[in-house]
Amino acid sequence: MFRFFLVAAVSASFSSTTLAQNTSWHQYVRAPNTTMVSPSRIITTENNVTNAEALLSTDSSFAILSRELEDSSPSITIDFGLNIVGFPIFTFAGASSNSPGIRVAFSETMQFLGDRSDFTRSDNGQKITDGTDQHAVPAEPSTWTDTRGCQAENPNKVCADGLHGFRYMRIWLDALDADAPLVAANGEVRIQSVQLNYTAFLGTPQTFQGWFECEDEDLNQYWYDAAYTNDMNVDLFLTDYIDARESDSPFLEGKPVLFDGAKRDRDPYVGDLAVAGRTLYLTHPAAAAAARNVLLDLAQHQREDGWIPPASIRSYTLPLFDYPLWWVMTSYDYVLYTGDVDYLAEVYPVLVKVLDTYYPSVTDNTTGLLFRGDETGTGGYGDYAFLPRSGPVAYYNTLYILALKSVADMADWAGKTEGANWRDRANTVTTALNNNLWDQTAGAYLDSTVGPVRHAQDGNSIAILSGAAPSDRAQSALGYLDKNMRQGYGNAFYDAMGDALDPSAGFSTRVYAFISYFEISARFEANLTDGAIEQIKRMYGWMATNDPQVTMWEGIGADGSLYEGGFTSCAHGWSTGVLPALSNYVLGVKPTRTGFAEFSVKPNIPEGVTWARGVVPSPLGDVGVDWKVDGNGFNLKLTAPKGSKATVSVPAAEKGTVGVDEQVVWENGENIEGAGKESSIAVK
Ligand SMILES: *[C@@H]1O[C@H](CO)[C@@H](O)[C@H](O)[C@H]1NC(C)=O
Ligand SMILES: *[C@@H]1O[C@H](CO)[C@@H](O)[C@H](O)[C@H]1NC(C)=O
Ligand SMILES: *[C@@H]1O[C@H](CO)[C@@H](O)[C@H](O)[C@H]1NC(C)=O
Ligand SMILES: *[C@@H]1O[C@H](CO)[C@@H](O)[C@H](O)[C@H]1NC(C)=O
Ligand SMILES: *[C@@H]1O[C@H](CO)[C@@H](O)[C@H](O)[C@H]1NC(C)=O
Ligand SMILES: *[C@@H]1O[C@H](CO)[C@@H](O)[C@H](O)[C@H]1NC(C)=O
Repeated sequence: MFRFFLVAAVSASFSSTTLAQNTSWHQYVRAPNTTMVSPSRIITTENNVTNAEALLSTDSSFAILSRELEDSSPSITIDFGLNIVGFPIFTFAGASSNSPGIRVAFSETMQFLGDRSDFTRSDNGQKITDGTDQHAVPAEPSTWTDTRGCQAENPNKVCADGLHGFRYMRIWLDALDADAPLVAANGEVRIQSVQLNYTAFLGTPQTFQGWFECEDEDLNQYWYDAAYTNDMNVDLFLTDYIDARESDSPFLEGKPVLFDGAKRDRDPYVGDLAVAGRTLYLTHPAAAAAARNVLLDLAQHQREDGWIPPASIRSYTLPLFDYPLWWVMTSYDYVLYTGDVDYLAEVYPVLVKVLDTYYPSVTDNTTGLLFRGDETGTGGYGDYAFLPRSGPVAYYNTLYILALKSVADMADWAGKTEGANWRDRANTVTTALNNNLWDQTAGAYLDSTVGPVRHAQDGNSIAILSGAAPSDRAQSALGYLDKNMRQGYGNAFYDAMGDALDPSAGFSTRVYAFISYFEISARFEANLTDGAIEQIKRMYGWMATNDPQVTMWEGIGADGSLYEGGFTSCAHGWSTGVLPALSNYVLGVKPTRTGFAEFSVKPNIPEGVTWARGVVPSPLGDVGVDWKVDGNGFNLKLTAPKGSKATVSVPAAEKGTVGVDEQVVWENGENIEGAGKESSIAVK
């Protein structure tokens, strides 16, 4: 049995141990070794193809696709071994002199690899292709980098979308009728190599500033799979390769951003950043500007009434009710992890306006709860999953409480005056939530008092994370979620009653790793460590063992399917919550004050895990933790950077001793007089 006790507050470096030289975690890193990625295997060929294996190397050997007019198309289906993103580069050893064409389709999964890509940019607007990329191959040796554009214009002919997120590629000798006479559907094409110029952040072992390793190899692999998924979304914002639905941003053009998905939408959304940002700061904080750029861009587009757009899509007008709160939370996280107080100073007026002007204007003043509906002019608004719900929704209100409390602290630290007001309002909303939305019969929070009775994963989870749920309600709500939302591939949005909102949508079988991260975190906060780990294994284990593997999906649908078929992104940063969950709760390190001036260390020990180690990078230096459980009990080595202050909690048995640097500070339920205080800790 483990219990937690505050044992020490330390200043400066309190252990000489350094984990910096440890390399045992390198084995889990997924990124390709170089930005030029070669295929890993040929899956299949059809019709007249010679020497397809030549595509696996970059030497002078080549594959031949050959076709007489009356024959079926020869094709090669290639596996790159891993979901990847960037520009495909084809090297041709030459071709017949009639400009034979190749057509190329891309997919993240074999299931959706067909005669067209699972998704291309043209599918979202500014259409120049109908799902395949085309190229007319010259007779002489040549190279083609698949970028967006057409070999002829007015009208557009022989077009390609360029830049794809995919694992599988199908190449075949063919031409569209509409592209005649520039390209022929017959002849011979000699392909020497097909490679990918990987454009996103290449997270090799040398680039990781933070890392994690424990006894459980599956958990370790999920951590690095999450890191890779997120890195695939750290890329430049380039007008030809972002979402085509009025998403241009002169401010972001050419800058690194944190996209929502590698394949699509390729637009940075601030809700997604709520998870992806944390993953970024815990792995590659040197790239944190990718989050800052997005937050600043959205701040610059704050509406007159204080509302903040979720993303640049539709010229910053997509109406979401919850995302301005995610902007607040994401700004909080950004400052907390990076210590960038200049950013805080710059956006502070934006923060005040969204919390003090916008949200009060959509509050039902009889209850004090945020209210989505025509009554507050927000009937047409959506949220992270476009759930068709209205009224005083528990999720919006609990997220409001969390955001108010978080930035209230930050305002205090920065010497601003708004903190007390925000904390008061958080308390008012908390009381109203508990008075109006607790369903005593179910033992869980209602989704809303408007519409059919149903209970949701989001509101119940964030009620706990925000501290709004008293401990008995927290335990009860988590029990309810476990019993009523459980699927073989994670926990769903809703219990079965949630299907009444839209009987065809399958809300009671749909799982988002995004919002599940908050449930998993709530389980850790409620000391239900094994339940948190069990859910991680159920959900991430499902994605790890189903195509494309490794990268984490935008959403999981009925029976564990891709919830929107081939359109689903299989590499979505918002699904990487397993990484912050393991670093924050199993390694146990969390910043508690701007830039890690203060942080807490409180490891949660999963059943069967007897050791964990790793580094959490901070602007002051590395925080290193190395803990193990053995016959001598629980032992934790901490490396804390100079100038920081750590609050350390360790699990301790009812009867036993807690020592710090060989000094006993707690024994059999008693704090030892004078110990456990800052002054008594030997600083080495
Ligand atoms: C990593 O560190 C741990 C403990 O700090 C040590 O036992 C292990 O041998 C190290 N591994 C390597 C490869 O350095
Ligand atoms: C990267 O290089 C190492 C050593 O050079 C090799 O063992 C490993 O398989 C390579 N990984 C990939 C993904 O190519
Ligand atoms: C298949 O292609 C090769 C190489 O271009 C060619 O020599 C051969 O005649 C073709 N076979 C058929 C049956 O068309
Ligand atoms: C790969 O793309 C980068 C830009 O992301 C570019 O600078 C580089 O030249 C490209 N490499 C090749 C071989 O095309
Ligand atoms: C609630 O009161 C605020 C002022 O505190 C006001 O701005 C808002 O419009 C009121 N809400 C509604 C729905 O009338
Ligand atoms: C988790 O355990 C800690 C320490 O044992 C306790 O303070 C806290 O209230 C518990 N949390 C919940 C939600 O039960």
